[in-house]
This record gives sequence, structure tokens and C-alpha cells, in this order.
Amino acid sequence: MQKALSLSYFGAQSRFANEIDAIVFDGQEYSRYIDLTSGGMGTPYYLCTTKKIPVTVNDISYYSYCCGKAVFTEKETPKVALFDTLNAVEPVEGLLFSKRFEKNINLRYGNWSDEIRKFVDGVVTAFSNDYFILAAIGKTLLNEGSFRGLTFCGTSPNKIKLGDYPLFTFQKKVVGHYENFRTLADTIEVTNCEACNMDASDLVFTYDKFKDAVVYFDPAWPFAASYADKTNPYAIVAHDIPEILKQQLLDPIEALWTLDKPQKIYDDVTHWITMALQKGAKRVVANTQSTNFPDPKDLETYLRTTFNVVKVVSSDQFSGMAKSKTFTEFWYVIE
Ligand SMILES: C[S@@+](CC[C@H](N)C(=O)[O-])C[C@H]1O[C@@H](n2cnc3c(N)ncnc32)[C@H](O)[C@@H]1O
Repeated sequence: MQKALSLSYFGAQSRFANEIDAIVFDGQEYSRYIDLTSGGMGTPYYLCTTKKIPVTVNDISYYSYCCGKAVFTEKETPKVALFDTLNAVEPVEGLLFSKRFEKNINLRYGNWSDEIRKFVDGVVTAFSNDYFILAAIGKTLLNEGSFRGLTFCGTSPNKIKLGDYPLFTFQKKVVGHYENFRTLADTIEVTNCEACNMDASDLVFTYDKFKDAVVYFDPAWPFAASYADKTNPYAIVAHDIPEILKQQLLDPIEALWTLDKPQKIYDDVTHWITMALQKGAKRVVANTQSTNFPDPKDLETYLRTTFNVVKVVSSDQFSGMAKSKTFTEFWYVIE
């Protein structure tokens, strides 16, 4: 199997790429694979490199977008000898530095040393147009500082306190991710891939390449019960890391679903499917899992009464973190 692309994303589906391939391409041909909420982009990367089909990756997260731009559209960007370049970057007391005394529930900006904060702020300021470097910085912050891209932690996976994390090690990680993104970009042979950074509700209005495409979405379903405080598990990738990469304070992302507004979930899902089909998509594939809200049974009933559901596929999976050791993944295929 082609090496999967993984962005340290919570909920990344790279391990399902084969399964999704079989569900989506059961004898069908498409003009394009459009992922409305592509996150870590493992499946679009797999399909683009194995099926040689153009892909459109879209996500509301600017971090996901930077990675998508880097991998799918920017291979002509000149390569830099990054380690020397990073050493020469002027430290900046920018957005991440300004958050050094912030101590909110999720430690959302990480307990990094002032040195690393100024380094990160300096690099993203100096290279605000180089998506490979932005992607590498985002991935380093997530890989070294977070638990599965879900929340920042006090220590890195190899047990270094973030406050003591050596700048040199951080720089080496950035260089490693940079080189990995460059290598991935070099494997993309299809020329007309696109990366977008929009609320999917806006994308389905404005995007013009749905004709004969297949559309996939695996959105940020709010979890049952545990996020009653309205903290969204995707805040770190969709809001906090983007603030650092853009060096700009961002409003909370209203588009992310919460448990207290179930009607918005159904309205968005209806809008995404209706628009994609009206604009000529051959199929839409919606994905959820048994631990998500709304309950997949309710979602399925709704989809069956509202759309032409031609196939439902479910598959039991093992989980390293759920209370019960298994969960079920569901895909609804709509035409
Ligand atoms: C479960 S993750 C997707 C994981 C992805 N399939 C993968 O394999 O990595 C959900 C993604 O939906 C994005 N998202 C949530 N609401 C969105 C919206 N309204 N428009 C676009 N993206 C959205 C989040 O930023 C997050 O990256």
C-alpha cells in the first residue's frame, strides 16, 4: 500500500484508505475526488497517487490547508536548505509568544519555552508564503506538543517537558517534516489538484468542479456527552494552530458543530449533499462512527428519508482509546 499521509490529526482516516477506495470506486469512474472536510488528507493522497485522479482537499483548518497546498499544489516552490535558513531567522515576539501566560483548560497554545515561541513566530513571519515551511511548523507543534492533535500536553511523546524542549531538537523536527512534505509533493503526478480553506457550506456554493465527481465528507461530528462544555476537539487544529501560522487572532469557529445545536448538523449535511448532487456530482459519501453524535441510526434514518441512499457499509474497528475496545465505522453512499 502507498505510504499514507498523516498529519497527526485526531480522527485521521489514513488506515481506512483501502476500505474507502473499495466503497467509493466499486466499478465507478469519476472526474475528481472532492473531500469537503479533509483534515489529515490520508485518503485523498492515497487515491491521487494510486488512481491518478485529481483531488480537491478542503478544510476549515488553515493548518490542514497549508499541508494540502504543500503536498498537492506547490511542488514548484523552490526548495531551501532549511536547517541553515532556520538558524538565520530573526526571533519574533509574535502571537505564540504573546500567549505565554495563557493558561486555559486545554493549554491550547502549549507550554513551550520563550525561545521556541520566538523561533516559531519568527519562522512563520519570515516564510508566510511557503506552505511547506508552515506545514512543517504546524506538524512539529502538533507532533511534539499534543495528544493526537486534540489538545496540547505538558510533555512531548518522548517525555520532554515542553518548557525544556531543546530548540535544536525542535528545529531538526521541523526540517524532517519539511523534507517529508517535499517528498510527498514529489510523488504527485496529477497536475490539477486543488486545496481550499473554506467552510464546506460555502465551498459547495462556490466550487465549480463537481461535474462527475465523487464527494466525501467525514466532518467534526461532536462526541456524545463528553463535550457538553462546548469545547470542540478540533479547536486546536482549526483555530489555535492557524492563529500561530497566520500570526493573527481568529474568532472562534462557528462552523464547528456542537452538541447543543443538532439542527445545524442536519441542515449542513443536507445542504452539502443537495448542492454537490445539484452541481453534477455522481455520488456523495458521508462517513460517521458509532461513538459520534448524532447516533448513526438516527442519521441513517434521516438520510434514507431525504436522499437516495444506494449503499450503506459498516465495519468494526479496534480503538486504542475508546472505553469500549471496538467501534463501528459507517459510510452512506448517496446518488
Ligand atoms: C474527522 S476530521 C477529518 C479527518 C480526515 N478525514 C482525515 O482522514 O484526517 C474532521 C475535519 O472536519 C473539519 N471541519 C469541520 N467542520 C467543517 C466545515 N464546516 N467545513 C470544512 N471543514 C470542517 C475539521 O477542521 C476537521 O479537520
